[in-house]
Amino acid sequence: MGEDDYCSSCGKRTSMIVQFLGVKKRVPVACKCEIEKYEKQKELDRKNNQQQRLKRLIDYSLMDSNFRNYTFENFKIDKYNKQIYKMGINYCKNFKTMEKENVGMILMGPPGVGKSYLSFCIANELLDKCIPVIAISSIGIINKIFESYSKHGQEGEVHIINSLKNADLLVLDDLGAEYGKEKTKQIIYSVIDSRIRNNKPMIITTNLDENMLRRKLASEDKIDRTYDRLTGVCPIVKIDGVSRRLEEGNRKYDILASLI
Ligand SMILES: Nc1ncnc2c1ncn2[C@@H]1O[C@H](COP(=O)(O)OP(=O)(O)O)[C@@H](O)[C@H]1O
Ligand SMILES: [Mg+2]
Ligand SMILES: [Zn+2]
Repeated sequence: MGEDDYCSSCGKRTSMIVQFLGVKKRVPVACKCEIEKYEKQKELDRKNNQQQRLKRLIDYSLMDSNFRNYTFENFKIDKYNKQIYKMGINYCKNFKTMEKENVGMILMGPPGVGKSYLSFCIANELLDKCIPVIAISSIGIINKIFESYSKHGQEGEVHIINSLKNADLLVLDDLGAEYGKEKTKQIIYSVIDSRIRNNKPMIITTNLDENMLRRKLASEDKIDRTYDRLTGVCPIVKIDGVSRRLEEGNRKYDILASLI
């Protein structure tokens, strides 16, 4: 058996002779090129895995394909929304802290001022980092759950509420647009309640004002509790067409404000 082999391109050893229990054997050794090739493949696999994971997360995020176009790259900044733009970007940058402190927000304001747009930009930015975000409208939740009754009975509801409960961030779009039947109210209530109890952040958009939202969330025995608990973790950020300003809130408001 001859000498060690050397790679013709990097000059490092590609095989060597070893002696084991008196027997000589030729064993392969990774040269520099081999190691580089291996690292490249590993990186490629990692990217592929990440792509697949992202695709699953997007499917799981329950939004239609158009949703992926709502991004900070496409965000048209004007003098009214430049503050909330900055807040949104920094919310994503600081998401670990936001998550730990359970800082969410209620984007409140009249239709068309860009509440959904901002919330979906945040959702997409985090999804791109493979953070499990679910973005869904309140009507969407109701539809999903009613659809699931026919297929899975009551279990469907539990499954859907569980997945909404467990996402790192829940974007609940257009709260209050759902119709006010008792069952509908109860579903939305359990989603919000389970997030609060699980200490997980939510970004909610709504066209309702404070009083309407308070009434929407109230039911006979839980009069103002849900509203108060909700605004305790989701400070109200008022956006309007004229001055999309932040409104005073609690300590979490200060955290949001510090992102500006
Ligand atoms: N910053 C923005 N950049 C680009 N388009 C925007 C922006 N904000 C809102 N839009 C667009 O304006 C329209 C209304 O915004 P939307 O987020 O749906 O309003 P809201 O949820 O407050 O009713 C949508 O078509 C949305 O794509
Ligand atoms: Mg909207
Ligand atoms: Zn080599």
